[in-house]
Amino acid sequence: MKFFIDTANLNDIKEANDMGILDGVTTNPSLMAKEGITGEQNILDHYMAICKIVDGPVSAEVISTDYEGMVREGEHLASLHKNIVVKIPMIPEGIKAIKYFSGKGIKTNCTLIFSAGQALLAAKAGATYISPFLGRLDDVSTNGLDLIAQIRLIYDNYMFDTQILAASVRHPMHIINCAEIGSDVMTGPLSAIKALAKHPLTDIGLQQFLADHAKGNK
Ligand code: E4P
Repeated sequence: MKFFIDTANLNDIKEANDMGILDGVTTNPSLMAKEGITGEQNILDHYMAICKIVDGPVSAEVISTDYEGMVREGEHLASLHKNIVVKIPMIPEGIKAIKYFSGKGIKTNCTLIFSAGQALLAAKAGATYISPFLGRLDDVSTNGLDLIAQIRLIYDNYMFDTQILAASVRHPMHIINCAEIGSDVMTGPLSAIKALAKHPLTDIGLQQFLADHAKGNK
C-alpha cells in the first residue's frame, strides 16, 4: 500500500519524506487555507514547493465546478510539474472533466467519494485515483471501511485500473484496516503515520537493551 500524506504543511511533508516511506501528497483547499496559503499564485508556488520535497504524485484540487473551468484549471495545474495529479470533485461536470483528462493522459484524483456508485462512475471515466472519505463517513455513523471493501470488490470484478486512495484517514487502525482490505493507497496526517511505529514494548525493550549494554561496558 502506498503512503500519501494529507497536508499542505511543508515541515510535516519533509518529516514524512525523510522517513523514507512517503509515496505522495494530497492537499485540498481547506488544508491550503489552514497553512495560510491564499491567492492563486501563492497556491501554485506552494504546489511547486511540495513537488520539490517529494518525488511522487501530488494532488492539486480545482476550484471550478463547471466542466470548462475544471479543464482550464486542471490543464494549468498539470503543466506546473510532472507529478501533479488534478483533483476533481465527484459531480457530473467532474466526471466529464475526468474523462477529458484521461483521454489526454493527465492523471486525476476524484475526490469526495462517499458511495460505491460514485466510485464506479469515476473508474468508468478513467480516474487514476478515487478518494473515498473514510473518516467523514465514520463521523456520520457509517462504516467507512465497508465502503473501501465494497469498492475493492467492484474494481477487482472488472479489473479497473483506477486506484483506491483511502482518504480522510484519522488514526493508525484506519491505515492497518485499509491495508487488510487491499486499498492501493492511503492518505493521512503525519500523526497517524508516526503512530504506526509506536509500541510500549518496543520502548521498554530498547531501554532494557541500552541499560544492559551500559552495565556490560562499565
Ligand atoms: C482527501 O484527499 C482529503 O484531503 C482528506 O483526506 C479529507 O480529510 P478530512 O476528512 O480529515 O478533512
